[in-house]
Amino acid sequence: MAEVVIVESAAAAGALVADEIARLIAGRPDAVLGLATGSTPLPVYEALRPRLSDVDTSRVRAFALDEYVGIDPAHPESYRSVITREVVEPLGFTPEQVHVPNGSTDGIEHAGDDYEAAITAAGGVDLQILGIGTDGHIGFNEPGSSFASRTRVKTLTQRTRHDNARFFSSIDEVPMHCITQGLGTILAARHLVLLAFGEGKARAVAAALEGPISALVPASAVQLHEHVTVVLDEAAASQLKLADYYRHAFDNKPAWQGL
Ligand code: GLP
Repeated sequence: MAEVVIVESAAAAGALVADEIARLIAGRPDAVLGLATGSTPLPVYEALRPRLSDVDTSRVRAFALDEYVGIDPAHPESYRSVITREVVEPLGFTPEQVHVPNGSTDGIEHAGDDYEAAITAAGGVDLQILGIGTDGHIGFNEPGSSFASRTRVKTLTQRTRHDNARFFSSIDEVPMHCITQGLGTILAARHLVLLAFGEGKARAVAAALEGPISALVPASAVQLHEHVTVVLDEAAASQLKLADYYRHAFDNKPAWQGL
C-alpha cells in the first residue's frame, strides 16, 4: 500500500519532500531525480533551494516526465522552459544535467526510444515526483494508457487541454499531442512521490489510491509499486475512506523508516 501523508499545507508538503530529496542526494551524489511540471511540485522545488544551496549537485541527473509535441522549446509554457525556470536555474543545475523529452516533430518517431535509453544509461530514476491530473493522469498518460507503456507520443484529452489552457492564451493554442514517459517507465523508478493539493484533485486521488487498478485511472498504477509516498493536503485527501488510518499510521511511524 502507498504511504499516505496528510499535511496542513502545500508548503508543508514541499518541505517534507525536499527533505527526502536532500537526504537522497547527500547519500548518493549522483542521484537521478524524476521531475514533474504543473503547479503541484512547485513547493518542492522552492523548498529544495535552501536545502541544496551548500550541496554539491554537479553529479545529480534529472529527467522530466513529459513535453508537448510541436511546441517551440523557447515558448514560455514548453515543459523545457518550465523546467529551466523552476528547477534548472533556481537550483543551479546545468541544462545538460536535466533531460526533457524532445517534442520536436523532427525525429519524433524515435524520441521516445531515445529518452528511454537515456534514462537507462543514467541507471534509472531514484525518486520520481508526480502530480495528478483531474482525470487521474500522471505524466501525460491519459485514461486508457497501458500499464506497460514506455515513453511515447499521446493525444491529449480535451479535458487536459482545457485544464492546461490557463497557461496559454486560448485552448486552441494548447498542443494536441504530447510525448510522455509511460506508466511502465514511471513504475520502474525506485521511489514514487505523488503530490496533490486542493478539492479539485480529491476525486482523482481517491480513485487512484482506493479504487480498482484500472487503465481508466492511470494513477491507480501506483498501487502496483512497492515504494510510494503520497503527500496530500486536507482538501485533496477529503474523499479518502481510510484517511484516519493513514493519519494514525504516519503519527506512529517508526523514526528509522524515513519516507
Ligand atoms: C499536466 C502535467 C502533469 C501534471 C498535471 C497536473 O497535465 N503533464 O504532470 O501532474 O498537469 O497539473 P497541476 O499540478 O498544475 O494541477
